[in-house]
Amino acid sequence: MSVLDRIGQKLLFTFDPETAHGLSIAALRCGLPVGARTVRDTRLKVSLCGLDFPNPLGMAAGYDKNAEVPDALLGLGFGFAEVGTVTPLPQAGNPKPRIFRLTADEAVINRLGFNNEGHAAAERRLAARRGPGIVGVNIGANKDSDDRVGDYERGVIRFAPHATYLTVNISSPNTPGLRTMQAREHLGELLSRVMAARAAATAQPPIFLKIAPDLVEAELEDIATEVIEKRIDGVIVSNTTISRPALRSGEAVRETGGLSGRPLFERSTIVLARMRKLLGPEMAIIGVGGVDSTDAALEKIRAGADLVQLYTSMIYAGPALPGRIVSGMARFAERENLKSIRELRDSRLDSWASKPL
Ligand code: FNR
Repeated sequence: MSVLDRIGQKLLFTFDPETAHGLSIAALRCGLPVGARTVRDTRLKVSLCGLDFPNPLGMAAGYDKNAEVPDALLGLGFGFAEVGTVTPLPQAGNPKPRIFRLTADEAVINRLGFNNEGHAAAERRLAARRGPGIVGVNIGANKDSDDRVGDYERGVIRFAPHATYLTVNISSPNTPGLRTMQAREHLGELLSRVMAARAAATAQPPIFLKIAPDLVEAELEDIATEVIEKRIDGVIVSNTTISRPALRSGEAVRETGGLSGRPLFERSTIVLARMRKLLGPEMAIIGVGGVDSTDAALEKIRAGADLVQLYTSMIYAGPALPGRIVSGMARFAERENLKSIRELRDSRLDSWASKPL
């Protein structure tokens, strides 16, 4: 980390996590030069679902919930940015405090509960975008909705014309009952209706399904079967975990919510590899959870990921991190004489898929 970044991070850490997050969004919105470094290297390009990603590293959902700064994120070196989760109506989310830093573990626990400004606000911003970069829109359901599947259909119709891809997020642990939509009896109907909504929409972007890391093998098998049957384009593995692996941080580990960051890497990578086994080599998979370095990003690819995302590590390492990870990937490709970073994919699939959860 550069001296400037270090000062920036120290300053942000004097605020509570949610205020710090708001300040970082404001800095990006103002166009402050926050560690931007875009690396262009043909060996890092990934073609997937008809889209051409300039590099395999993306910003995960939850940072830019209201689509305020997707192009500024791309300017930090990310190959793509996912905004949201957006719900049809604005909602406040859970009472504060609801984000907790676990500094000793380079982790975070959050129980935000889909706080966001709603579809209309995000749509207005996305419609005004001029840039060519890849921006996915992550859609969800309102907490008080009496038709949650309908909320996803509305998200598809509304954002299909503005999104390079859509993510159906049914894996947040912070909206009561949401994750039960991952169970086969609910998932089949949800995915059928989502795909029908896309067919009826004015554009047909790829649709990805984002899943939790807290699933047993039988549940993963059910999800894989439905994803294949309903012709979903890909899967994002994973959201935050409700499990608590051995952690070093004190009080905060007792907070309820979803855990993200370094302690999530192992579990989310095992689930990623198992999904790759179940879905086969052609299905698109995005690996997310605990990526904080070039090595960690490459390991997700070795475990079966086509693309990788991160969020929590940027809280600790600052906005220069994506540029550093991507230039590290380019150096690796050069050193190993790879024509494409994709050559790494699945090279450690068996060893990851056989680890216990
Ligand atoms: C998230 N994440 C998330 N995911 C999602 O699909 N919709 C969302 O609104 C949010 N919100 C959110 C808020 C905060 C504060 C965090 C830390 C995370 C989950 C995120 O996209 C990612 O899946 C996990 O955090 C795991 O990746 P990292 O953070 O370990 O790189």
